[in-house]
Amino acid sequence: MAEKTILVTGGAGYVGSHVCKALARAGFTPVTYDNLIRGHRALVKWGPLVIGDVCDANGLAEVMAQHRPAAVMHFAALTVVGESVLYPEGYLRTNVGGTAAVLTAMRKQNVSRIIVSGTAAVYSTLAPSPITEDAPIAPANPYGDSKLAMEKLLGESGFGHVILRYFNAAGADPETETGEWHEPETHLVPNVLRAAAGIGPTLKMFGDDYPTPDGTCVRDYIHVNDIAAAHLLALKHLESQTGGHIFNLGTGTGHSVREVIDTARRVTGKPIPVTVEPRRPGDVPVLVADPARAMKALGWEARASLEQQVTDAWRWVQKSQV
Ligand code: UFG
Repeated sequence: MAEKTILVTGGAGYVGSHVCKALARAGFTPVTYDNLIRGHRALVKWGPLVIGDVCDANGLAEVMAQHRPAAVMHFAALTVVGESVLYPEGYLRTNVGGTAAVLTAMRKQNVSRIIVSGTAAVYSTLAPSPITEDAPIAPANPYGDSKLAMEKLLGESGFGHVILRYFNAAGADPETETGEWHEPETHLVPNVLRAAAGIGPTLKMFGDDYPTPDGTCVRDYIHVNDIAAAHLLALKHLESQTGGHIFNLGTGTGHSVREVIDTARRVTGKPIPVTVEPRRPGDVPVLVADPARAMKALGWEARASLEQQVTDAWRWVQKSQV
């Protein structure tokens, strides 16, 4: 076993590529396994790339046999809530079937530890805010359903595992070696900045009549590098802990859509045109994490402010024009 090698499924994607950089900085070799349908070859910079589908257990087993990873970090997934409503079977196949294939390959090759991307979308819309890991679970869309099924599968697998339930990942590598690159882009921060840069359309603000202080949705935005840091701490956690562990990754502070736009206006110095549109189906008014468990068990804390996230994302948008 190569103690310093980690297999990263989805390593060519947004969170996966930032984790690869963090792994490399910590002395690991991240081996990316990605089909490059949503991921980008240009974001694989910190270790080898193997092109393959996450549902292909044999392909995954071959990569594990060749590289002998100490653990798997599993990011390969479909992640757009709206798309999941239109295409639930695809979400189930990739997110649950893909995880099943990863576990099958691990069993075959005696890899015993895995860290996966979970999501706040598994929580009930009735969960009191801030949301702890013990809050009621009731996904409101097929994306959340698929991630919950993934969690259950991991729980039954017997492997040492950590599930990191991300809230709203944002920001980019401050050195602009990687960043957020989705096609099409549905997320707020990149859409606001693309509007500011003049490479995207006018920002559509989905709803200003929510029961929140300024009428727009409140989210817990967390820097992608804070998420990456949590993955390294989770890896360390699994060296001394067996079984399964679930942690929320958020800052514990919410920001409204209007606050994000105002922050972006300040950071970019651009006016940022906005139109108010009807609510987007599936959006809930408020989603804010209680990150206390991760702080206590992992010694982890989200460091970057919303301002910092927008600043880093802006640098990436200007450089990459995506
Ligand atoms: N929004 C806009 N205009 C846009 C894009 C977003 O007003 O162009 C609003 C949304 O309506 C929402 C907020 O900005 O109120 C944040 O939206 P995002 O699409 O950036 O993020 P979500 O909160 O919808 O989704 C995130 C993750 C999902 C995860 C979900 C948990 O991206 O993967 O949190 O519910 F499932």
